[in-house]
Amino acid sequence: MKVTVTVNGEPVTADVADRMLLVHYVRDVAGLTATNIGCDTTSCGACTILLDGESVKSCTILAAQADGSEVVTVEGLAGPDGELHPMQIAFRAEHGLQCGFCTPGMVMAAVSLLRENPAPTEEQVRSGLEGNLCRCTGYHNIVRAVLAAAEAGPAEPGPAEPGPAEPGPAELGTGVAR
Ligand code: FES
Ligand code: FES
Repeated sequence: MKVTVTVNGEPVTADVADRMLLVHYVRDVAGLTATNIGCDTTSCGACTILLDGESVKSCTILAAQADGSEVVTVEGLAGPDGELHPMQIAFRAEHGLQCGFCTPGMVMAAVSLLRENPAPTEEQVRSGLEGNLCRCTGYHNIVRAVLAAAEAGPAEPGPAEPGPAEPGPAELGTGVAR
């Protein structure tokens, strides 16, 4: 079936199989491979992206279900001159990553979390990110990064960001493409 999804501000149209998952659409059709696949069973959160502004595990959704929607991946967070999104800066500053495999999904989940709650407590950050698994960091520095990003205040919208609210490659995302 024919599907059009706006990915990071650019419409992407393709004929795809009815059963194609959105994460495969993003990676294989749109060619944006920073979004990782860790499980394919809605467990790990590595595939987290924003769909119409909400964070979703993109292995949970069919590409067909996203027809007509807007998607933002970690590649779409960068500012107009390629500067990192404040959340990415915070992850780097607080050493919120080691192997980086979980990082694109973790960053997207964290961006969504701060949109919903711009000043979360540590407990709220831990709770908000519980759907995203990390096998390396022990989560402490990830939590610190999100709290630091919250303290830094709201980000400017990136070029791919739909809507009024927010933020901007993704050296924190593209470096771990699979
Ligand atoms: S790949 Fe989607 S949740 Fe693990
Ligand atoms: S940094 Fe390796 S899985 Fe999170």
